[in-house]
Amino acid sequence: MIASAPGKVILFGEHAVVYGRHAVVSAINLRCYAKAEKASDITIESPLGKTSLDFKVHPYVSYAIKRFSEIRPVKGVYLKIWSDIPIASGLGSSSAVTVAVLKSLDLLFETNLSNEEIFELARKVELDVQGIGSGTDPFVSTFGGTWLIPERERIDIGDYLDLTVIYTGKASITSDMVRKVANLREMYGDVIERIFDAIDSISLRSISALKDRDFEALSFLVRTNQLLLKALGVSCREIDEIVNKLENLGIPAKITGAGGGGSVIALGSVDLDGYKCLSVSLNAEGVREEKV
Ligand code: MEV
Repeated sequence: MIASAPGKVILFGEHAVVYGRHAVVSAINLRCYAKAEKASDITIESPLGKTSLDFKVHPYVSYAIKRFSEIRPVKGVYLKIWSDIPIASGLGSSSAVTVAVLKSLDLLFETNLSNEEIFELARKVELDVQGIGSGTDPFVSTFGGTWLIPERERIDIGDYLDLTVIYTGKASITSDMVRKVANLREMYGDVIERIFDAIDSISLRSISALKDRDFEALSFLVRTNQLLLKALGVSCREIDEIVNKLENLGIPAKITGAGGGGSVIALGSVDLDGYKCLSVSLNAEGVREEKV
C-alpha cells in the first residue's frame, strides 16, 4: 500500500499563526511517499537509514506508528519512505512524512480513517516531536489546497501565481525557531504581540491581493512580512543574502516556514546563480493513495 502527502509553502503568517494570528498556506507539487507492507516486526527504511522503531533517527515516523497503534496496535510493518521534499527546508517535509505514513498504515490495516482523523493523529505527532506548533503543516499536508488559517477557509487563487523556492542550504529546525520566538515574546511581549498583529493584517490583506492578482500589493506584503520575520529573529545571514540579492533584481522575497535556514520564496520565476531554485506550483492535492 502506497500513500503520498504534499509539502507546503506558507505564503504569509508563519510564527504569528502559533499565537492565533492568520496565515495563508498552500500545498505544493512536491510529495512524500510511504509504502507499508505486513511484516513480523517493525522496519523503517528511508534516506535517513534503516531502523526499527527509532525516535532519534525517525522521530516523525516512529511517533506516527505509536499514535496509529492507539487505534490499531501495530506489531509488525515494513515501511519504505521516499520524498521529493528536501528535509528541514521549511517546505513541510516532517508533516508530509507523518501524514503519508499514517495514510499508508490506514490502508494496510483497513482502519478507514477520515482525513480529519488522519490530521488529528498527525497533529499529535507534531506535538510529540516538537512540543510546540500551530498544526498548520499537518493540516495542509492532509487536506491539500490553499487555506486561510485558523478559520480553515479555502482560498481560490487559481494557478496564475509563479513562485520560486530558493534553498539556503542550511537546515531549518522548526522547534528551535518557534522556541526562539517564544523566548523573545517572554522578554518583549508588548513589542512582539504588535509584530504578530502586523503579520496578521498582512495575511488578511493578502487574500484580496492574491485573488485580484495585485502584484504591487503582493510585493509590499511579501517585503513587509520578511522585515517583520527578521524582527522576530528568524532570519539568518544566508536568508538575508538571498533576499538582498533578489531585492537588487527588484524581486520581493520572504522566508517560508520557520526560518533560521530553510527556504525563501520569491514572487515570479527566478534563477539565482549559485543557489538551488525550484519552481513550485500551489494548490496541490492532499493525502492520497497511490495506485501502482
Ligand atoms: C512552520 O512551517 C510554521 C511555523 O509557524 C510553526 C507552526 O505554525 O507550527 C513557524
